[in-house]
Amino acid sequence: MTKNEDLVLGIETSCDETAAAIVKDGKEILSDVVSSQVKWHEKFKGVVPEIASRKHVEFINPVIEEALLEAKVGFHDLSGIAVTFGPGLIGALVIGVATAKAMAYVLNIPLVGVNHLEGHIYANFLEHSELSPPFIALVVSGGHTSLIYVEDYQKYKILGQTLDDAAGEAFDKIAGFLDLGYPGGPAIDKIAKDGNPRAINFPRAMMSSGDFNFSLSGLKTAVLNHVSRLRAEGKELSLPDLAASFEAAVVDVQVSKTIRAAEEEGVKTVVLAGGVAANTSLRRKLAKEVEPKGIKLFYPSLGLCTDNAVMIAAAGYFRLKTGERFCFDAVPDPNLSLT
Ligand code: KG4
Ligand code: ZN
Repeated sequence: MTKNEDLVLGIETSCDETAAAIVKDGKEILSDVVSSQVKWHEKFKGVVPEIASRKHVEFINPVIEEALLEAKVGFHDLSGIAVTFGPGLIGALVIGVATAKAMAYVLNIPLVGVNHLEGHIYANFLEHSELSPPFIALVVSGGHTSLIYVEDYQKYKILGQTLDDAAGEAFDKIAGFLDLGYPGGPAIDKIAKDGNPRAINFPRAMMSSGDFNFSLSGLKTAVLNHVSRLRAEGKELSLPDLAASFEAAVVDVQVSKTIRAAEEEGVKTVVLAGGVAANTSLRRKLAKEVEPKGIKLFYPSLGLCTDNAVMIAAAGYFRLKTGERFCFDAVPDPNLSLT
């Protein structure tokens, strides 16, 4: 056991953020470096996988160097490396995984692979020391919409997920259509604050489906049809009302299913995770609805909702402690499952 056995370097390259972080003891953030590729993807109104891969190659080394510098530690102080090995874009994942393997091999330190969704959930453990399983996690991001029963540490049951678009994807596509910029979630969130969520009654897809799955592509079409109709009729469009009504349709279903999942599993805690967990309306509505039911709600601070490597380092620290190791011949899995 070395004196710095608790310093874990996290590496995250599953989508369009190149990120590295140093976390001590699985909870103390020594550095958190995220290099966003937004400016290269925004003109395409979405992530272009080929561009993402090339930018990861360009940024991975400087980002890791900056994470070490910010944490005031050297390569030889590291005790382990944790890297996202799925789910995500394969061409993006391989950059982080190849870098992590090379570093772990040269430094002769343990390497562990972390599921990106587990990382998002662990962002909550980092900031809320009172949080412990069992709980229900609603993981909503650009690539995922999953309702997960976290039975114990590292023990997950997927209760339901989106059958088509992910929540963040719906925000990004609607924002793209309305020319609000990319990523669309923060833009819609901001505009919706001045709107009336009851102005337009968009469909609450699968609200009464009796399961824990979601569907967002119909809502996206309903929004597009509404806008096209108003434009064709020459009527004025209230962007704030449209944004607020769209958000309400997404949030209502997510809140209702999350609470029902907690009730059915008999747990008194729910957590939000992923980029869309930054959404003001989702946080507010869920907080309001769980309170009278005696259910506690946790969510990460805004910076830890979206992709980062701190959450990967934290989740990886606990896996390393259990002795788990990522083989040098293992490959990243773009469809990696949590269970
Ligand atoms: O977790 P994340 O950084 O990447 C993935 O794992 O996909 O999530 C990014 C997604 C984007 O779709 C973005 O539009 C959305 O999170 N997002 C938001 C907000 N902030 C980011 N969606 C709604 N409201 C927000 N405030
Ligand atoms: Zn993510």
